[in-house]
Amino acid sequence: MIIEAEDSSHHIAVRLLHVEAFPSPAEADLVDQLRRDGDASISLVAIAEGRVVGHVMFSRMKAAFRALGLAPVAVAVDKRMQGVAAALIEEGIKRAKADGCEGIFVLGDPDYYRRFGFSAGAAAAFESPFAGPHLMLLPLGDMSVPSNAGQIEYAPAFSTLG
Ligand SMILES: CC(C)(COP(=O)(O)OP(=O)(O)OC[C@H]1O[C@@H](n2cnc3c(N)ncnc32)[C@H](O)[C@@H]1OP(=O)(O)O)[C@@H](O)C(=O)NCCC(=O)NCCS
Repeated sequence: MIIEAEDSSHHIAVRLLHVEAFPSPAEADLVDQLRRDGDASISLVAIAEGRVVGHVMFSRMKAAFRALGLAPVAVAVDKRMQGVAAALIEEGIKRAKADGCEGIFVLGDPDYYRRFGFSAGAAAAFESPFAGPHLMLLPLGDMSVPSNAGQIEYAPAFSTLG
């Protein structure tokens, strides 16, 4: 399996992957809209046996520091539980750090994202409609999270998600 930056030749396969992975096309639409809006900062595909078997997107966010939002991530049903999502997420974190990103937010299952270093505690100081135990932050580099960290905003495309 290889992990690489997506290009336009992957777009249809990425869309089909998200349509298959989620109960509705909302996440597939989100990915398309983030690209159209120019908010897709890091978008990686996992390729195995000549096909796209996984995808993750990191999009620009508004915050008091350089931040990205991790979402969505999806893996083909027949390739799950083999570390594909973990490989995509780890590569995305590496690239974000190399690009000077200071923190990555994710909204998800704490049991899963804890393994990458995300924590709800680190995100607790931020104001967001998504604030709560599922909103997590992975601080990168030397960023120390201030106690009053202000508001964060996901890219506008997220407002279409229910
Ligand atoms: C979630 C998903 C991306 C994981 O992909 P994967 O390649 O199987 O993940 P990995 O192999 O890296 O990790 C497997 C681990 O994730 C856990 N996991 C899988 N789906 C999970 C979920 N929805 N919530 C929490 N944990 C989950 C597994 O229990 C397993 O845990 P373990 O390592 O402690 O046994 C994949 O199941 C998927 O595409 N699901 C549908 C889309 C989705 O729910 N995306 C996440 C929200 S954006």
